[in-house]
Amino acid sequence: MSVVKEIPLEVVKQHNKKDDLWLVIEDKVYDLTKFRLEHPGGEETLDDSAGRDATRDFIDAGHSSEARTMMKKYLIGELPAADRKKPLPIR
Ligand code: HEM
Repeated sequence: MSVVKEIPLEVVKQHNKKDDLWLVIEDKVYDLTKFRLEHPGGEETLDDSAGRDATRDFIDAGHSSEARTMMKKYLIGELPAADRKKPLPIR
């Protein structure tokens, strides 16, 4: 059984630099430090979201299923229930 590590949002917020870049997408925490320069959508987009919840921006960019597969490689944990957002409103 694999247990996913719980990482509080307060901890994610501390990893908000180009050389230490974590962010949240759909309640999961990703370490994109190594992926930053490889990101087809540019490094700036990731820099702007460093240390915070990037779910809305990730969805708005219209990522492909290939991107969804790629991101699994960078998963390091998930938010504890108390830090999770309510479902995103449809707009
Ligand atoms: C693990 C996280 C991520 C992965 C693996 C990833 C991967 C990719 C890939 C493969 C593309 C090329 C287009 C596609 O295949 O969809 C792309 C484009 C893009 N990504 Fe990401 N991405 C990630 C996170 C993000 C985040 C957090 C943002 C915004 C804050 C973002 C913004 C964009 C934008 C703006 C594009 C360009 C879309 C276009 O050309 O129209 N990405 N990304």
